[in-house]
Amino acid sequence: MKIVLVVGARPNFMKIAPLIRAIEKYNANHQSLVTIHHVLVHTGQHYDYEMSQIFFKDLELPQPDIYLGAGSGTHAEQTGKIMIELEKVLFKERPHLVIVVGDVNSTLAGALAAVKLHIPVAHVEAGLRSYDRTMPEEINRLLTDAISDYLFTPSPDADENLRKEGIPEDKIFLVGDVMVDSLLYNKARAEKSDILERLGLVTSHQSPVTPYALLTLHRPSNVDEKESLLKIIAALSEISRRIRIVFPAHPRTQKRLKEFDILNNLPVTSLQLLITESLGYLDFLNLEMNAKFVMTDSGGIQEETTVLGIPCLTLRNTTERPITLTRGTNILVWNHTEKIVEEAFKILDGKGKTGNCPELWDGKTAERIVEILASSRYNC
Ligand code: UD1
Repeated sequence: MKIVLVVGARPNFMKIAPLIRAIEKYNANHQSLVTIHHVLVHTGQHYDYEMSQIFFKDLELPQPDIYLGAGSGTHAEQTGKIMIELEKVLFKERPHLVIVVGDVNSTLAGALAAVKLHIPVAHVEAGLRSYDRTMPEEINRLLTDAISDYLFTPSPDADENLRKEGIPEDKIFLVGDVMVDSLLYNKARAEKSDILERLGLVTSHQSPVTPYALLTLHRPSNVDEKESLLKIIAALSEISRRIRIVFPAHPRTQKRLKEFDILNNLPVTSLQLLITESLGYLDFLNLEMNAKFVMTDSGGIQEETTVLGIPCLTLRNTTERPITLTRGTNILVWNHTEKIVEEAFKILDGKGKTGNCPELWDGKTAERIVEILASSRYNC
């Protein structure tokens, strides 16, 4: 059985790594049966060292077998370029199945290129819905799910969403969250990162950590619109009176901060708001584990903080991961200055939200996926 695995953007890498490990484990345990051959295709949607290569190193991912070099562009350009290049690979490789993960442009492009060649598609992290169609990721999720043959979901709400859209029951598999596989597998390694020392947050590995909040921000709706960005910055400046903020900034955000000339006019000092380049997986996970709380507009970080039990303030008005609100440590605060400050201060006053971990977020999701695919291989 031959499987093409598609990755392209930062949040894909931690979802593919456990799948590759699970395929190799399956092969080792089933030597007399059919072997699963995997071909790893990197679309090149993300190409900077900090957005791509560092994750291969941190996650012990094998180098991609094929690199498509699609790069940046408008949504249509990026999706189109990936489809054109991937189609050539699929003609040549003729896989039995294509696996796509998450909700980025590479996910949709991979699924579309495959399904048009009548190659079955498995979508890992299926069924998530924010019900906000202005988000490019929501369009990617809806379309990818509509054309996939195996829909691997992280939580029961995702199954419900798919049923409402008329997806047949026999295509839906509740398997848990593959990102959590990566988190649990790498937690001990992340603890050894020296990022706290590098950022001056501890003087030595043994000394107490200077309290800090961790921030990530990259959604177009937050950073491409100056008004929205300024509302968030106003909250940060208030919060930074009480706690230091560490902000590894995505390239898009760095660009906008310069373009809007926000950096020169920041109302806080660089010590209170410590802006760094985007960080690798292990350094970032270490910062997450040691933070007093996290502020983010990312999808995956809402899940990671729920698993780690760290309070999370999500700088969005919707989430496709509602289980992190109902079960986990997540609160939606959007770009509302007062709400962000109010919730941050509650946490600092010891009244932060606590939660618990959803079922099947146990580190074994990728193994469940591979078992399902292997047992249904004659359908492929
Ligand atoms: C993409 C995903 C988003 C995900 C995010 C994580 C889509 C629609 N969006 O958004 O869901 O949360 O990745 O990072 O797929 N750039 C660089 N270096 C890089 C990559 C990008 O400088 O390695 C710059 C480019 O100039 C580009 C901008 O960042 O204009 C945005 O990159 P792009 O991949 O288009 O979208 P993201 O905002 O990263």
